[in-house]
Amino acid sequence: MAGDAGAGGRIVPRMASPFESEQTASKRGTIGAVTVFRGHILSPLSNGGWIELRDGTLEVEDGVIVSVGSAEKHDVDLRPNLIIPGFVDTHAHVPQLAICGVHPDGLLSWLRKWVYPLEAEFQGGRARELTKWFFREMLANGTTSAALLTSAWPESVDICFELAREYGVHAWIGPPLMDIGAYRRARVLEEAEELARRWDSKRQRFAVTPRFALSCSEELLQGAGDLARALDLPVQTHLNENPDEIREVRHRFRRSYIEVYEDAGLVRPNSLFAHCVWMGKRDWKKVRRVSHCPGSNLFLKSGIMDWPAATNSGALISLGSDVGAGPDLSIYRVMRQAWSIHATQKGQGPGPEELLRMATLGGAEALGFQDIGSLEPGRSADFQVLDWNRIVPPGAPPAESAHDLVSRIVHRGDRSAIRHVYVSGKLMPPPPETERRTRPVP
Ligand code: GUN
Ligand code: ZN
Repeated sequence: MAGDAGAGGRIVPRMASPFESEQTASKRGTIGAVTVFRGHILSPLSNGGWIELRDGTLEVEDGVIVSVGSAEKHDVDLRPNLIIPGFVDTHAHVPQLAICGVHPDGLLSWLRKWVYPLEAEFQGGRARELTKWFFREMLANGTTSAALLTSAWPESVDICFELAREYGVHAWIGPPLMDIGAYRRARVLEEAEELARRWDSKRQRFAVTPRFALSCSEELLQGAGDLARALDLPVQTHLNENPDEIREVRHRFRRSYIEVYEDAGLVRPNSLFAHCVWMGKRDWKKVRRVSHCPGSNLFLKSGIMDWPAATNSGALISLGSDVGAGPDLSIYRVMRQAWSIHATQKGQGPGPEELLRMATLGGAEALGFQDIGSLEPGRSADFQVLDWNRIVPPGAPPAESAHDLVSRIVHRGDRSAIRHVYVSGKLMPPPPETERRTRPVP
């Protein structure tokens, strides 16, 4: 059986109809290794609908899905477990995994007390070990693509690109640019340009990343805008996150937050803005890509994003863990945070299909990657395998709808329900929790 629905809508069951890309027939059996995965397939589709195949197959050649259907034969039998797309986390700070959960007073004091000292030390062997740990944690949580901020040290950027390439994940990666009140000042723009020229590629994009308005001089902001334009690079930054921050931006720059970025040429079609909690109508008209970080916004007492205003703005709204202001790299948790916060807000909050779509295809669209985010021919075989018995409790109605199944995934999924994660059809290493860490004796 298959399910289909309109954009963000409820899934309506329909007959199974295996579909193939046009090139599939000619490709099959010719070049490359073909692997057929079999299981309960569930995915949003780029046409706004959904597919559900209770006994479906995913045919993968050279890491790319070439057909989704109901083939007779398989190489990897994952039944009765669920196969869903990997998540796309559109905002996370690599060095900050180490400070997840430390009690904050507020954004600005948290940055000064915890974040900057931690990032200042994020280089050398320590950066390599912890970046590897970050990627393994990310994959263990079902996230196969992300927009990432490293530390401001170029070495940390090199390491992040190397590992993203090694694992094969699609990513935006950028060092937070700072020349005010922070741990780096000199040569940040020159280094950013060198790094962009060294690393920017189709799958791993170098993102120009002015940390936020308060960490940058006008010259640095302008230089960042010039760099993005000159090399046609994506931009990621924080915007209108926290009342204290916004007050200080107005005080220093004498104009609104978005105007500061606009004047520097940083509001571009592929600029991604994290948070967007305190936005006026005019602000919403100017942003096209948003990373919504509901857990972080609560944790740092920043506020609650206006969900109806965000979705009515026409911007691409995606989800971010914002580690380390988020407690971990679980996009399952982020979907539930968004649900809990907005369901009780005035207006309509997101339903389960909207949340799962935002966590996958929505994130891919926000990052401009057209070859990830869903289980469709032509897309990278990036998927998670969910233990059916962890998602659907015993005694559940046997013929429940795909809508109910999506809801259960959103509300019951977590890393312990994930059996395997594949990127480009390749099985990722198991999560790192087997390595026991001991606290050093003081
Ligand atoms: N604004 C500037 N830097 C940061 C950061 O590291 N985390 C969050 N949440 N907001 C920021
Ligand atoms: Zn952030």
